[in-house]
Formats: sequence, C-alpha cells, structure tokens
Amino acid sequence: MNPSPQRLTFTTPDDWHLHLRDDAALAFTVPWTAAQFGRAIVMPNLKPPVVTTAQALDYRDRILAARPAGSGFMPLMTLYLTDGTLPDDIARARASGAVVGVKLYPAGATTNSDSGVTDLRRVYPVLAAMQQENMPLLLHGEVTDPDVDMFDREAVFIERHLVAIRRDFPMLKIVLEHITTVQAVAYVRAQQQGTDARGAPLLAATITAHHLLYNRNAMFSGGLRPHNFCLPVLKREVHRQALLDAATSGEACFFLGTDSAPHARESKEAACGCAGCLTAPHALALYAEAFEQRGALDRLEGFASQFGADFYGLPRNAGRVTLVRVPLEVPDRLPYAQADIVPLDAGRTLAWRLEAGA
Ligand code: DOR
Ligand code: ZN
Repeated sequence: MNPSPQRLTFTTPDDWHLHLRDDAALAFTVPWTAAQFGRAIVMPNLKPPVVTTAQALDYRDRILAARPAGSGFMPLMTLYLTDGTLPDDIARARASGAVVGVKLYPAGATTNSDSGVTDLRRVYPVLAAMQQENMPLLLHGEVTDPDVDMFDREAVFIERHLVAIRRDFPMLKIVLEHITTVQAVAYVRAQQQGTDARGAPLLAATITAHHLLYNRNAMFSGGLRPHNFCLPVLKREVHRQALLDAATSGEACFFLGTDSAPHARESKEAACGCAGCLTAPHALALYAEAFEQRGALDRLEGFASQFGADFYGLPRNAGRVTLVRVPLEVPDRLPYAQADIVPLDAGRTLAWRLEAGA
C-alpha cells in the first residue's frame, strides 16, 4: 500500500462497544454512529439498567426510531448482568435474536454500575447458562477494591477474576472491553489456543480510539482536562504503545469498540466529573490517525470491519466506506439533548474524514 494514501475505501465498519443513552439523547447519538458504522453493540447501563430481554427490545425500538431516514444502521443489544439475573434470562435473550451479549459491570466500577455484580460467584449459574447458549460475556474488567491503585485496576481484575472465569468456563466467549494495559494485551494474546465451533476466538478485546491516541498526560496538560477522563482511565505511554501494537497487529482477537460515552458538558466540567469520552461523531477519523502513526492503514479494515463480526458469528457488512485525507476540524461543542457536549479533540484538526454522502 502507498505509505501516504489520499483515500481509503474498505468494508463498512461496526462499533462493538458504544453508549447511545436514551430518550432525547438518541436524536444525537444515533445519527453520529449511523453515519459511519453498519452496526453497534449498545451498552445497557441506562438508568434504570437494561436487565430483561423485554427492556432490550423496547430500547432497540427507540434506537431504530432515531435513525436518520434511509439509514440501515442496526443496533445490537446487550443485557446488564446483576446479582439477580437468572439463568433462564439467558435462553430468553438468545431466543430473541436481538441480544448479542451480556455486560458485566463490577458494582461501583463506573457510570451507572450500582446495580452491577457484587461477587462473581453469585452469577456463576448465569455464566454457566451463557456458556451453554454461546452468549458472550462482555467485561468491564476493573476491580473496585478501594485499596487497589486506580491505574492498576485492570491488571488486578485479570489476575483476580478473569483467570478464574476462564478456568471455570473454558468455552464461554468473553470480550475484555476497552483494554488499556500491556497486561491486558499480553493476557488476551496468550489465551488464543481454543476457538469456538466456528473457529472464532473465545477471548477477544475491544480497543478505543482515545486509548490508542492518548496517554495519561492528556488528563493533566496545562490543567485538569475533564474531557479526557474516562474509565478505565488513560495509562502511561508504554501501555498506549502496547495497544497500538495490538490494534495494528492484524490479530483477530483485537477489534474496534469506541466506548464513546456521551455526558453533557456540565456533567464533565464539574467538581465530580463523569467518566467518558465522546468520540462517536468522528470515530473513524480518530482510528485512522492512530493506525497512520504506525504506518498501518492497511490493517484498519480487519480491526474495524472484520474481526468483530467474525467473533460474534455475524456476517461482515456488504457496504463500503471511504475515508479521504481532507482536514476535519473537530467542533468545540456539539448540541446534545437540551444541553451541549464537548467531543474528544475539540478544536483539533484531524487528517481524515469520511467522504460526504458515502
Ligand atoms: O468512561 C466510561 N464511561 N467508562 C465506562 O465504563 C462507562 C462509560 C459511561 O457510560 O459513561
Ligand atoms: Zn463502555
């Protein structure tokens, strides 16, 4: 491939980890993602959380109603695992055809995780049902133990919990979401011996654009930068480099999940600011920048458009998108529900944009 192409055409990508929120927010969040992605896995951490298949189907209808005219964008739904989830809920979710995974938030780990799991042993019967039904477990992989340093929470989760889950449910499909560390990259890589019945990985990881582009200095440059605060929190440069290695490696166990997590400006610019970076409006341009840092634009299609679909056993998209090397200035603010919102990289000019009308 030309080392500095002007255009990049590839299979329409999917976002395998996304927060769309609900109600008035959908009129903003759904068009942002539908403009670039064929499908997205929609996180269930609403207030109250999406815990039943009936709730997931209703939420799906609200998302579909917010699509721009003519859009073929398809939301893929998830359930929010709680201490009270029953094994039977999994069969119902599977039978619906609309639910593609079950999300585990350790209680207290992040935004709207209060109803999350307090002790993994409590959900073991549900994990057994998921293994049986071939229903993937999507993990927010951070411990919540206040004695564990904020920057170590992912690595400790792997040691304390993920190793045990894999040992006890060896055929359970698992996505370690939004990985941020050398340890996560190494663990996922080292665990690629087995495959599911279709030959797809049993264990995979999503990687966000913000963790590929920024290290933890971005939260503190010249002052506190609330719009660069997310969970898991940005880490040291050595970790960012490991994530770039993984994303651009062409290994099928690493694929795109933006974790774009909108919060109105006033809830980020606050004494106790919410965690989450808004990347959806220009997500593909951000990923293209990251891949270009490694001269690996030819690997973007696998990461963005192939490996995730293969993992979930879904067909790859039939359409194509084109990125063009035309500068894109990220707006300082965007309208959002009854408020406004600050996107990641506000005011910065990105090198790539999606071709208009593509
Ligand atoms: O930064 C984050 N924001 N991380 C999460 O895990 C949740 C998300 C949100 O929903 O705001
Ligand atoms: Zn998330």
